[in-house]
Amino acid sequence: MNQNYIIPNEWSIIEEGFDKESVTASESIFSIGNGAMGQRANFEEDYSGETFQGSYVGGVYYPDKTRVGWWKNGYPEYFAKVLNAPNWIGINVNINGEALDLNTCKVSGFKRELNMKHGLLHRSFIAELKGGKQIKVNATRFLSIDFNEVGAIKYSVTPINFTGEIEFIPYLDAGIVNEDSNYDEFFWEILQVEEEKNEAYILSKTLKTEFHVCTGMRMTLSLNDDDIHLEKEVEKSEKKIAFKYKTEVDQGDTFTIYKYGGYSQSMNHANEELIFACEKELQKASIIGFEVLLQKQKDAWEKIWETSDIVIEGDIKAQQAIRFNIFQLNQTYSGEDSRLNIGPKGFTGEKYGGSTYWDTEAYCIPFYMSTKDKSTAKNLLLYRYNQLDRAIENAEKLGFKNGAALYPMVTMNGEECHNEWEITFEEIHRNGAMIYAIDNYVNYTGDYDYIPAFGMEVIIAVARFWQQRATFSKAKDQYVILGVTGPNEYENNVNNNFYTNYLAKWCLEFALKNLDILKEKYQADLERIIAKTNLNQLELDQWKEVSEKMYFPYSKEHNVYLQQDGFLDKQLIPTSELPRSERPINQKWSWDRILRSVYIKQADVLQGLYFFENKFDDKIIEDHFDFYEPFTVHESSLSPCVHSILACKIDRMEKAYEMYLRTARLDLDDYNNEVHEGLHITSMAGTWLSIVQGFGGMRNFDDKLSFAPQIPKKWKSYSFNINYRGAILKMYKDHEGCKFTNESEASVDILVHGEKVTVSPNELAAL
Ligand code: BGC
Repeated sequence: MNQNYIIPNEWSIIEEGFDKESVTASESIFSIGNGAMGQRANFEEDYSGETFQGSYVGGVYYPDKTRVGWWKNGYPEYFAKVLNAPNWIGINVNINGEALDLNTCKVSGFKRELNMKHGLLHRSFIAELKGGKQIKVNATRFLSIDFNEVGAIKYSVTPINFTGEIEFIPYLDAGIVNEDSNYDEFFWEILQVEEEKNEAYILSKTLKTEFHVCTGMRMTLSLNDDDIHLEKEVEKSEKKIAFKYKTEVDQGDTFTIYKYGGYSQSMNHANEELIFACEKELQKASIIGFEVLLQKQKDAWEKIWETSDIVIEGDIKAQQAIRFNIFQLNQTYSGEDSRLNIGPKGFTGEKYGGSTYWDTEAYCIPFYMSTKDKSTAKNLLLYRYNQLDRAIENAEKLGFKNGAALYPMVTMNGEECHNEWEITFEEIHRNGAMIYAIDNYVNYTGDYDYIPAFGMEVIIAVARFWQQRATFSKAKDQYVILGVTGPNEYENNVNNNFYTNYLAKWCLEFALKNLDILKEKYQADLERIIAKTNLNQLELDQWKEVSEKMYFPYSKEHNVYLQQDGFLDKQLIPTSELPRSERPINQKWSWDRILRSVYIKQADVLQGLYFFENKFDDKIIEDHFDFYEPFTVHESSLSPCVHSILACKIDRMEKAYEMYLRTARLDLDDYNNEVHEGLHITSMAGTWLSIVQGFGGMRNFDDKLSFAPQIPKKWKSYSFNINYRGAILKMYKDHEGCKFTNESEASVDILVHGEKVTVSPNELAAL
């Protein structure tokens, strides 16, 4: 595919010229969403070339039957799939009976633009059909932020060199499939296909999970901006309904169809009210009208940007990239619904099934916490709180007891969906990320009440897990954790992964520390929690013992914690000696060769040092960075950001910038040649982290907000906004110094390079 075809622009993603090879990649890149639903940028009109159709409804999934070779006890029965939902965007176009299909006609002046400032997708082109007739097409589409069950399309056709009949065929199609279905099964059952006047609805339900979804459309038409009414013909089948509107159009005149569509679904409405709910929303949208809806969309996005924008001067590609990442994160999760989460591909593809990984707690929460109201991050924490019973069941299935919880590696509803033993059973570090996120949230927002109200139960259940998962080694007279996979998935079934052991110890200490705080300040809550969890002193003593006697592999020779026992037995050959032709190793090498090698997929020991940076001095961070980074292949998109942040911390700006570049335009420039499958949504949060925590040096340890701003040589300046405890703080950095402003009523104390600075309302703090 032609990489680098996206035209640099500050606020838009632009593609010019039609290239069939780029269609599936662009369908991912130009995806739109509003948190409740999202869709790939498929064309409205039929396209007979290669395309990957995708429209998704937040939270709606299907438990596809698992496909594994050797079934192992404890495997989940199914793999939850984000579901391709019925298509409501379709509008076929016939010109004097001839179908418009960009795969078969001559296309010129093709331009596609994703306007990120306002959340709009535009497409325009001239098509010459086989008989020589030329039409100009303009299409604008968006998914409303204000009315999140509604999307709108304005699709206009102008005959350029003829007068003739133009027919629009808007349709709903529930006969859709998932490309990644394991057994080519159809996941939907169609219950009802209804039409009335200019509206149509298809009520369908997912098999097994029984999510009910009503997909609707409602149309209005205009000729040269004057509303017109045309009689329609209806074509209805078991899974599809189409309306046909045709009229004679003079050369130069513009025939437009406005199509309002979307979904109402059973997570938000009673099943029997779905059609009515969908109808109500679409009627509302069409009465408000496209232009007003569009204005509301612009306003809504401008508001989102007020607290989340990052401005980079002097590097337009970097500017475009960071806005793209921020835009996609906002399209994926809007923050209001604690039943939804951030899938690694968001609403842009099927891969990775499931919705929620540790990516949310480890990478995404800081982004949402700093750019939105604190209720957003709280909702993400509540998602896990509400799934605690399932996490306890998951642990029980594996033999744990007494309310120990193991959160799943991949989930939709709290149940584990992943089934590769080395991940499902062994990549248990994810459990620690749940607790890290709680600590991070409380530190940043100051909302300690979250812990007695919700967090403590999760903290206790996870502490129970770690205590039971640790084994006492007589030989070492210490506790060890055997048979795990760390974040570096290129090592499986290792003993004493430093990161996992460290997190386990920290989680146990954190649990004890918070129980003490509750004892002092939240006695009634503590009593309730003890009664609910049957917590007893013996357990607390065990937690203390395990945390105090946790073993960490360490090399005196290299002055570093070892990634796991035996790490130094490997051939320590740096990636600089790995031929280019052999990378990425996950595509070029056998799995056993990868496992035996020293190569590290993503930050592992360094992930721990990043999370708990305040517990290690700079020299330790530097030694570990210098030891591990040369063996790291960064074959997870989550890897470069952590390295970029740590490189800034130890004053390695060039390395930091190199790492930053690997995350920032990963999808826009399709580094891994896989963007057609969907975008890397969760790693986009990593790009944001690379700027705010990396270059900006923002940290929130010990109830303090601190910064250590630096700037890449190539940039003239950059600035970002964050929402800190209700104050909108703006940090501006150029090569001269840095400035802070505060848009709130109250002063905010921060540390800048270790010095205390008070940022008062509407005053500039220049340093
Ligand atoms: C990474 C995991 C991550 C997952 C989903 C994998 O490649 O190794 O750490 O959770 O992708 O993003």
